[in-house]
Amino acid sequence: MKIAVYPGSFDPVTNGHVDIIERAAKIFDLVHVAIIVNPEKTPHFDIDEREQMLKAAVRHVKKAKVDCFDGLLVDYAESKGACAIVRGLRAVSDFDYEFQMALTNLRMCPEIETVFIMTDYKYSYLSSSLVKQIAFLGGNVSGLVPSTVVSKLKKAAIDRNRGGK
Ligand code: PNS
Repeated sequence: MKIAVYPGSFDPVTNGHVDIIERAAKIFDLVHVAIIVNPEKTPHFDIDEREQMLKAAVRHVKKAKVDCFDGLLVDYAESKGACAIVRGLRAVSDFDYEFQMALTNLRMCPEIETVFIMTDYKYSYLSSSLVKQIAFLGGNVSGLVPSTVVSKLKKAAIDRNRGGK
């Protein structure tokens, strides 16, 4: 059984992430979509909100399982019996960061390969930060994120304008 881990902040999940998960599920028997619990950057959505949004977004992908992780990614991947870490690649600007992470993870755990999936050109410009920026400034994010995320972002934008987080 070929198991992969697709890690990320998913703050929030976008349609670009969902596309990568659907395509990874065609290659692997099981894909653990793993949300990082303690990223260095402070997420807007807490771990439960991110998990709830991701679960709703990938409910149709039978081979995907949503999970959370803390600590080193390679330790988590090993604990799941994964042979690969999947990452999506958008533009050249992603490359340096991804290259550094892939080589660091390979050095720590040579048995686990990082596999890059090129983003669909439709989503090549898309990022969670851009989506949040658009939503918080009153823009329309439909078509960029799953429908549950659209409503969550609308609510977050209202709370923000009222002086919440
Ligand atoms: O969606 P992101 O924020 O680009 O995902 C980054 C992530 C979660 C893949 C990365 O920060 C990570 O793997 N963190 C876990 C800590 C770790 O293993 N660090 C060493 C890897 S270089």
